[in-house]
Amino acid sequence: MRGMHIPSDHPLLLRIVDDLAERGWSQQNIFLPQALTVALATECRQRAAEGELAPAGVGRGPAQEVREAIRGDHIQWLEPGQTGPCDEYMGLMESLREALNRGLFLGLEDFESHFALYPPGAFYKKHVDRFRDDDRRTVSAVIYLNDAWLPEHGGQLRMYLKDDVEHDVVPTGGCLVLFLSGEVPHEVLPATRERLSLTGWFRRRGSDPFP
Ligand code: OGA
Ligand code: MN
Repeated sequence: MRGMHIPSDHPLLLRIVDDLAERGWSQQNIFLPQALTVALATECRQRAAEGELAPAGVGRGPAQEVREAIRGDHIQWLEPGQTGPCDEYMGLMESLREALNRGLFLGLEDFESHFALYPPGAFYKKHVDRFRDDDRRTVSAVIYLNDAWLPEHGGQLRMYLKDDVEHDVVPTGGCLVLFLSGEVPHEVLPATRERLSLTGWFRRRGSDPFP
């Protein structure tokens, strides 16, 4: 695969592995290089302007439907080989997948991801990323692409952690948040400005013998 790779024993990756092992989530405010963040934000806006992003659905398979009272973002799934910046992002996530497998024996087989654009006022109500009828999603990974985001712009990712602890993440460009997909309920609060991200899931082999 084209793109950027970092060794799976890089200190940043080891820190993420330790965080996930100890508490089930990790936040790295300085993860994605600035130039790549800007390139991906530009690409996300361009895809949106060309009408390639579509209202995101809720649920899975034929039962999936658009419900803006639950989630109001617009998304486009990534495919390898489309653009340099996307391939660089996918290369980084591949390094992360290897580090997670090496450090946590998670057996993560693949990674699926999409651009997400939340128009001003859009939100995503409290949910868990793992589907009831499909337990392959194991680790969720969100990277923000927003320039000069301030807390008063809203748009926080609110995570509901153990012992009634809530943790808010300001969606500042370059920041990476990871959490165990089946264990951390979370929501996206409405923002006063457009909110861009790349959201993805490291997946294990499914337990259904007849997928
Ligand atoms: C999701 C999600 C969080 C965020 O897409 O499932 O919860 O901060 N995104 O964008
Ligand atoms: Mn989610």
